Amino acid sequence: MATTKQSDPLFWNKVVGAVLFAGLIAMTSGFIAELLVHPKKLKENVYVVAVPEAATAAAGAGEPKAIEPIGPLLAGANPAAGEAAAKKCAACHTFTKGGPDRVGPNLWSVLGGHRAHSASFSYSQGLAGMKDKNWDYEDLNHFLANPKGFVPGTKMAFAGISSAKERADVIAYLRSLSDQPKPLP
Ligand code: HEC
Repeated sequence: MATTKQSDPLFWNKVVGAVLFAGLIAMTSGFIAELLVHPKKLKENVYVVAVPEAATAAAGAGEPKAIEPIGPLLAGANPAAGEAAAKKCAACHTFTKGGPDRVGPNLWSVLGGHRAHSASFSYSQGLAGMKDKNWDYEDLNHFLANPKGFVPGTKMAFAGISSAKERADVIAYLRSLSDQPKPLP
């Protein structure tokens, strides 16, 4: 004889018992799982994304790496090699006395002269704003290594000369472009 839920007097006891028993299993399994696994909050990320400090510090800064001083190299510098290297400047500059400005100003007697030295050239604000200072050897070294680093906003669209020896040669050549070349430092 099949019992229906109406006829079984213990039906609701069984239902409530089943629900309680299921709850009990859920609680104990959660409890046991936690005993077995020990979940822990980490204090730090396990995968640390390494960003070198120098990279963050240098981001946006003009001169990322130290520029080798030019003084010690000038004594042994070769103006003729500098003249050859300065071919890449000649797209924008003339070097002769009284020569015309092109994309950039004429460079006769630029060393020792004040910055933005050509009266006829229309300089960037950055360089024009430095007019009260003179171009000395070390300034030219920094400018030629990294034009934008030395003169923010410069119009000189030139990446720079990375070799210190080549900069020394070019600066020795620039020094020779004068009626009275300046003494070496
Ligand atoms: C793409 C063109 C271009 C090239 C290549 C270039 N220059 Fe220039 N240069 C300029 C311009 C433009 C200026 C003016 C910058 C300003 O007003 O900010 C300038 C300015 C200068 C100045 C400062 C002049 C002053 O009166 O204060 C010097 C020095 C100089 N350049 C040297 C060089 C040398 C050396 C080279 C080659 C190694 C070179 N430039 C390559 C365009 C150029």
